[in-house]
Amino acid sequence: MAKVKKAYFCKNCGFEAPKWLGKCPACGEWNSFTEEIIAKESGSIPAAVANVPAAKPQRVSEIQQSDRKRIDLGNAELNRVLGGGLVPGSLILLGGEPGIGKSTLSLQIALAPNGLKTLYVSGEESAEQIKLRASRIGIANEDCIVYTETLLENIVAQIDEQQPDIVIIDSIQTIYTELIESSAGSVSQIRECAATLLKYAKSTATSIFIIGHITKEGNIAGPKILEHIVDVVLQFEGDSNNIYRILRGIKNRFGATFEIGVFEMLENGLREVDNPSAILLTHYDEPLSGISVGASVDGIRPYLIEVQALVSNAAYGTPQRNATGYDNRRMNMLLAVLEKRVGMKMFSKDVFLNFAGGFRVSDTGLDLAIAAAVISSYFDRPINEGICCAGEIGLSGEVRPAPKNEQRIAEAARLGFKKIIVSAYLPKPPKDVKGIEVVRISSAAQLPKALFTE
Ligand code: TYD
Ligand code: MG
Repeated sequence: MAKVKKAYFCKNCGFEAPKWLGKCPACGEWNSFTEEIIAKESGSIPAAVANVPAAKPQRVSEIQQSDRKRIDLGNAELNRVLGGGLVPGSLILLGGEPGIGKSTLSLQIALAPNGLKTLYVSGEESAEQIKLRASRIGIANEDCIVYTETLLENIVAQIDEQQPDIVIIDSIQTIYTELIESSAGSVSQIRECAATLLKYAKSTATSIFIIGHITKEGNIAGPKILEHIVDVVLQFEGDSNNIYRILRGIKNRFGATFEIGVFEMLENGLREVDNPSAILLTHYDEPLSGISVGASVDGIRPYLIEVQALVSNAAYGTPQRNATGYDNRRMNMLLAVLEKRVGMKMFSKDVFLNFAGGFRVSDTGLDLAIAAAVISSYFDRPINEGICCAGEIGLSGEVRPAPKNEQRIAEAARLGFKKIIVSAYLPKPPKDVKGIEVVRISSAAQLPKALFTE
C-alpha cells in the first residue's frame, strides 16, 4: 500500500509546511494550519489532465503573436473592469462573500447575447435551480450549456468535447480532482484544480472564470491562495442590504487594475449602472448639515459621491470614531488635522462617517470632502449648494492636489456643480472648465470659509 503523504497548509495564504505551525511564517496568520492528505497513486492521472500539451522554449523574436482580439462580453461594466474586454485564454477569479451575486453575474455572462458558446459548470446548484435563475435573468444565448459536476476530470473532458469560448466554474471550492485525496475546498485541492484549469485555458485559448467564496471567518480556504495563479482577480463587493454592487479589478495581467464596474441588483438580475454619480448623490428638499460631495476617481472613471458625517458630544471619556466604508486610521488623522490646524475641539466629540450607497472608498482625493462633511456637522451648518471638493490633506494641514484632478473637475461640471474646491498647488493651472468655478485653497484652515461663503 502506498504510504499516505500528508502536509500542513495555511488556509489563508496556502503556505505548505511539513508540520503543524501556530503562526504562518508567510502571512503571519495565527491558527490557520490544517492537515491535508496529498498522496498520489501513480498511474491514476486521467488522460484528459495528463494530455495538457507541454510548452516549448522559444526565442522571444520568434513567438507568434496571435491576432485574437478581446472578446466583447456584451456587458459594458464587465468589459471595463477587464480592461476593455476579455482576453482569450485568460483565467479569471471572481471572488466575493456568499449571496453577493457571483452566480447571478456569471450566469448573466453565460446568457448574454454575445454570440459566444458558454459552459456554465455548477457544483453548488441543481440544473433546475439554474434554470429558475436563468428564467429570471432572461435567456438570450441559445449556446449556453449548463453542467452540474464537481469532478475536475469530467469537467475538463466536457470542455474538450463542447469546445466553448467561455467556461464558468461555480465555485472552485466545490470541485475536486482525483489526483489528491483531501476533500473539496482544501488548500491542495483548490491549488491543483486551479493550476490544471490555468494550463488548460492557456493551451486551448478558452477563457475560464472561476468563482471563489470569501468568508470573514476564513473557515474555508479562500481565493487568496489563487491570486498569484490566475491572470485577473475581480472582487464583487457591496452591502447585501443595499442594491448596489461594485466589481473591482484587484489584479489584471492584461490591463489597468483599480477599475470599477457598478451594478444594481434587481428582480431580474444585475443591471449595469453607467452613470454612478446619479445614484451616489441624493437630492434633498432642504440643505442638511454634515453632508458634502466629493469628486472621486477609481481607475480612469470619475464619479461624485456623497459623504455623510455626524459629529456629536461624546458621552464617555473616550470618544467614538466610526467610519463605514473608509479606513478608520485615515479618518482619525483627518480629525487630528482639523483639531490642530483648524482649531476644532474634536477630542470631546463622537464622529461617525458614511458614504452614500454603502460604497467603500480608499481615494485620498476625498480627504477634503470628508473634512468638509465633518466641519459642516461640527458647526451644524449646511454647506452652500452646488459645492464639491477634490483634494488630499497632509499632516500639516496643507491641501495637496488629488490625482487626475482635471477629470474630477470635469465630472463635477458635467453634473451641474457650481463650485469645486481644489488644491492651490496644482502642478499646472487646470484648463478652464466651462460652467464651474474652481476655488483653490492651500490649507485646511481655509476650508470653512470656502464652504460657507457665497
Ligand atoms: P447569488 O448570485 O446566488 O450570490 P452568490 O453566488 O455570490 O452566493 O445571489 C443571491 C442574491 O441575489 C439572492 O439574495 C437573491 C438575489 N437576486 C436578486 O435580487 N435578483 C435576481 O434576479 C437574482 C437571480 C438574485
Ligand atoms: Mg453562488
